[in-house]
Amino acid sequence: MCSIIGYCSKGLAAAPIIVKGLKRMEYRGYDSVGVATESNNQIELKKATGKVDEVNLKVQLDSLPGKIGIGHTRWATHGKVTDINAHPHQSNSGKIAIVHNGIIENFEELKKQLENEGYSFKSETDSEVIANLLQKNYESTRDVKETIMKTVAEIKGHYTFVAMFENGQLAAARFHEPLIVGIGKDDYFLSSDVLGFIERTDEAIYVKNRNFVLMNSSGIQIFDFEGNETKSHIVKVSKEFADAYKGDYAHFTLKEISEQPTTIIKAGKKNSDEIAKAIDLIKHAKTLYITGSGTSYNAAVIAKYLFAKHAKIKAEIILASEFPFSPISIDQNSVVIAISQSGETADILESVDLAKKSNAKIISIVNNLMSSLVRRSSCVIGLNCGPEIGVAATKSFTAQLAIIYKITEELCDGCIGIDLKKVSDLISKLISNKSKIQLIAKELKEVTDIYVLGRGIHYPIASEAALKLKELTYIHAEGIPGGELKHGPLALMDSNVYVLIINPNDSTYDDTLTSAREIRARGAKIIGISNKSSDVYDHWIEIPTIDETMYPLIEIIPIQLLAYYAALEKDTDPDYPRNLAKSVTVK
Ligand code: F6R
Repeated sequence: MCSIIGYCSKGLAAAPIIVKGLKRMEYRGYDSVGVATESNNQIELKKATGKVDEVNLKVQLDSLPGKIGIGHTRWATHGKVTDINAHPHQSNSGKIAIVHNGIIENFEELKKQLENEGYSFKSETDSEVIANLLQKNYESTRDVKETIMKTVAEIKGHYTFVAMFENGQLAAARFHEPLIVGIGKDDYFLSSDVLGFIERTDEAIYVKNRNFVLMNSSGIQIFDFEGNETKSHIVKVSKEFADAYKGDYAHFTLKEISEQPTTIIKAGKKNSDEIAKAIDLIKHAKTLYITGSGTSYNAAVIAKYLFAKHAKIKAEIILASEFPFSPISIDQNSVVIAISQSGETADILESVDLAKKSNAKIISIVNNLMSSLVRRSSCVIGLNCGPEIGVAATKSFTAQLAIIYKITEELCDGCIGIDLKKVSDLISKLISNKSKIQLIAKELKEVTDIYVLGRGIHYPIASEAALKLKELTYIHAEGIPGGELKHGPLALMDSNVYVLIINPNDSTYDDTLTSAREIRARGAKIIGISNKSSDVYDHWIEIPTIDETMYPLIEIIPIQLLAYYAALEKDTDPDYPRNLAKSVTVK
């Protein structure tokens, strides 16, 4: 996933504003960066591998001249991470430059055609074909609007691109990837995310799918792919986006972990009507499915457990990437709960589209209320936890859980007696007692394998813990259901291994402690996460005692902190782990 930006102004230099916007959208992709600007009817371009600040220091992106420009941060899909593959890409004539987010599925075919017509290509990317196709179509039409219409009719896939012509005209087309117009006092933006322009304006137009925008310093026009002008509404973007600053925190990840006492309380707060609607849909569903990817899937596993245990409602959980291949029977009486922070994950959108083809109803539990998932849903519950910039999901996970608890509580007529205020206070205490966790994190520096054990409702937390550890520290980590230890994983236990045991004093306690002893006997080091100490633990991370059902919300917190501090020890970047992207909009 990449971020793209286009900017034009009557008086201000474009490049520094574009670089700032890219910096704020860097979470979307961060292996290379580039900016191109127009000045005196000429396009100038600078790009290189690295993060925004590094590249800017190296090549001074922000010194490019002109009041109009485009920019990009890349997350490689087609072609390696190299300077040449970085965006923007220029057409052969040098008169058009483009930035692109998404995938052009028929790029090989188009590239061959263009090569036969004499065009040449410098990069390995699918994106460069857009630049040359635009050149070809512009040379035959001499009209930017017609050029865009011809070009979008020829490319297949899902994409948003912004093109800059040498006369300073900008054009952007949207097909299943985000595109937002920002309207400032004397300037305009095209951007993948509101964060690209929130510092300068909070007025935005969310461009509809299959629409394109023509922009220059005197205004904008929006058309559908058939060339009809479309009406668009200007909306005021929530000021909460401005929260996307690290403030005094060293990293977004630490800031977001620390926000959880507040975010679990705020979760779903603005959506009581939608929660009521979801409950009605769930109660009347003939078949209920819950889907998500990564962390959001781990939340789905907990939802299945809670619905079954407390409300006697059976749900089938399916990884979003497996949804198209799962033998499931969905019809108009089915309900699919789609859980996603970004609402843009390609696997989840595909699952939802498949379910909708069979007329199933979609409930989404999602943070980004402007996302593609929201537009596909019959009922939308917002996580309401504010922008999450750190690539590893932290506060969005606990907000998802808080909503799932609220739904379960309604489904079982208050049988759990959840008290999120109490949970919030306990999380605050856990976050302020991090010195022991920091010490343990030092020990993990040289470790190559970590296993995380949990039984029952603690197993999805073990999976989530392993996911956080591998993302942030690059240490191999695996979640194991406690009882499965003896069916294979025990063979891996030796003195080089660390095992995290999620073991609150509840119905799973004794069995899990037995597993811990079996592991200890093989020489592995044990970190116990529990409200009860034991001599079997090499390190004990104490968690407070709470009702058995509520432990997941508590026990994940020290593990998020452990992963964060271990990342610092290993000198990895906790906000932007290598090879990952915040929302995975490719399949
Ligand atoms: C884990 C993580 C990913 C996401 C997954 C789904 O820390 O960030 O595993 O959870 O890519 O993303 P969303 O929730 O945006 O659909």
